[in-house]
Amino acid sequence: MVMKAKRFCYLHWISLSAILLLAHFVYSKNHGNAANDLLDIINANRTAQKLPKLNLSPGLGCIALQYAEQCNGNCSRNNTIHCQPPEDDFTEVFAPNCGVELPTFGTISGYMLGCRQKYLQPPEAFSHVLIQDQKTLSLLRNGTLTEVGVGIIGGHKHKGPYIWCVVFSNSQRNTTFVLEDLGKGIEQKRGCYSGSSKPCSTGHKISAVAANIWTFLLLIFSFQVCLNTLNL
Ligand SMILES: *[C@@H]1O[C@H](CO)[C@@H](O)[C@H](O)[C@H]1NC(C)=O
Ligand SMILES: *[C@@H]1O[C@H](CO)[C@@H](O)[C@H](O)[C@H]1NC(C)=O
Ligand SMILES: *[C@@H]1O[C@H](CO)[C@@H](O)[C@H](O)[C@H]1NC(C)=O
Ligand SMILES: *[C@@H]1O[C@H](CO)[C@@H](O)[C@H](O)[C@H]1NC(C)=O
Ligand SMILES: *[C@@H]1O[C@H](CO)[C@@H](O)[C@H](O)[C@H]1NC(C)=O
Repeated sequence: MVMKAKRFCYLHWISLSAILLLAHFVYSKNHGNAANDLLDIINANRTAQKLPKLNLSPGLGCIALQYAEQCNGNCSRNNTIHCQPPEDDFTEVFAPNCGVELPTFGTISGYMLGCRQKYLQPPEAFSHVLIQDQKTLSLLRNGTLTEVGVGIIGGHKHKGPYIWCVVFSNSQRNTTFVLEDLGKGIEQKRGCYSGSSKPCSTGHKISAVAANIWTFLLLIFSFQVCLNTLNL
């Protein structure tokens, strides 16, 4: 009887773990990399209008992140941002900071930059932050673009402002903005970019760790409760 009850509790515990683990993976998938999500939204919008899909370029993504980082102090209270880094910064600062191999540096043909004091999901960021006027809309619809990269940076401790940056290229070569070290490039300390295997912002990472600790405690607790209710 006791053995049977114990086995029941283990079973209960294992199935609960499986459910929570699954939930965790679904959560990580959806919240893994908002920069990749935004890139998918851009491509879905283009292909719906019969425009060619843009290639994902991790090197360009990292450059977009560097751009956003440079503009970090420039988001106003009313969510406007005016920030124009010197042209030379792309090759002299952003590319070296990312580890983009300079001979593969292509043509940058446009960018979109926007900010918000609070975090928005990628679909809202796309339509409310990045596509603000006729100029950004015509850039999105430019048929000669070939590659795209997205960078996002937030404030410290999961606080705003959040800066979203999309950089486009119309280079005709296949692989431009190649990252050194077999495509790994130089690790970025903050924010996230499209094509990177790392998830977004430290704020999200810390809350994920906290969520895992809570999940673990919950599992232990439920195992105890199961044993107790069976009067063991
Ligand atoms: C937003 O803020 C900027 C600078 O803080 C100011 O110049 C601009 O007029 C403001 N715009 C609106 C719509 O309030
Ligand atoms: C950020 O804003 C400041 C103050 O308005 C300005 O001087 C600076 O040039 C801006 N930074 C960039 C990279 O445009
Ligand atoms: C598309 O982008 C290219 C490269 O920046 C530019 O030369 C061209 O004028 C743009 N086309 C339109 C229709 O805006
Ligand atoms: C593409 O995005 C623009 C700007 O948000 C929007 O107005 C348009 O309806 C979108 N098109 C499609 C097909 O989703
Ligand atoms: C791009 O790469 C594909 C295969 O990797 C190749 O067939 C094609 O010719 C390349 N195009 C250009 C413009 O280099």
